[in-house]
Amino acid sequence: MDYAKLFRLDDKRVVVIGAGSGIGRESALALAAHGARVTCADRDVAGAEQTVAQGYPGALTAYALDVLDDAAIERAAAELGPVDVLVFTAATNVRKRILDYSSEEFDRVVSLNLRASFQLVRAFGKGMAERGSGSIIGFSSIRGTTVEPGQSVYAATKAGLVQLLRTAAAELGPSGVRANAIAPGVVETPLTAQIKSDQGWYDAYARKGALGRWAQPGELAGAVVYLASDAASFVTGSVLAVDGGWTAVDGRFEPPN
Ligand SMILES: NC(=O)c1ccc[n+]([C@@H]2O[C@H](COP(=O)([O-])OP(=O)(O)OC[C@H]3O[C@@H](n4cnc5c(N)ncnc54)[C@H](O)[C@@H]3O)[C@@H](O)[C@H]2O)c1
Repeated sequence: MDYAKLFRLDDKRVVVIGAGSGIGRESALALAAHGARVTCADRDVAGAEQTVAQGYPGALTAYALDVLDDAAIERAAAELGPVDVLVFTAATNVRKRILDYSSEEFDRVVSLNLRASFQLVRAFGKGMAERGSGSIIGFSSIRGTTVEPGQSVYAATKAGLVQLLRTAAAELGPSGVRANAIAPGVVETPLTAQIKSDQGWYDAYARKGALGRWAQPGELAGAVVYLASDAASFVTGSVLAVDGGWTAVDGRFEPPN
């Protein structure tokens, strides 16, 4: 093993869905910096093109994809294959209490966060299993394990995604395909703009983690490169917390010595 190349992804074909913003954008740029050829897929193709413009010339390509469209996912899996690594980040949250939540909002959050994830794992996992290798990386959240009022449906989808990926790991492992989840803490992206615009809310979240601050989206990219690479060749069915200690620490009271 040449450890100097442990994290290299030279000539790996990677698809990042959600690459037009936030964590997906930074992941795509980091994967390309490690040698991968990256398709930046997003419903927001202008965002994906901005990502491409920020990366190494020729390493990244923009691709228009709405993951709520089953047929478009099937087409993408056929057009973009063979794919070595699939990363998907597209998700949404409606922060409301259960008693105020509408059925339409429930459907919207579950359709994107869980149903589309299922469609992606099935569509891209098939080719990976046939070829005998691949790495599937999905985004759960601290909300997959720990909640607060207003997180019900989002939290349920993020816990559900972990079980979906664990089962993918069980079913596809014998074919050489790995499947893992990354569980971020609070990260400054458009997804959390609502929180950032409320100073009290923003500061409370910063104080909760052991590091006492929010993450920048680029701080998630190392976990994606790791799980995509041979450095993680024996890692599957796992949930990698990148949460600044959020789930490790359960309160801020410091008992006297
Ligand atoms: N930001 C955080 O604090 C945080 C915390 C925990 C978990 N996460 C998870 O990390 C992942 C990435 O979050 P982010 O903050 O980078 O989000 P983001 O909103 O910045 O980016 C999501 C991207 O997905 C794309 N997208 C949305 N709907 C789509 C569709 N139907 N088809 C294709 N693309 C679509 C958007 O255009 C956008 O580019 C999500 O799964 C999120 O739940 C984020």
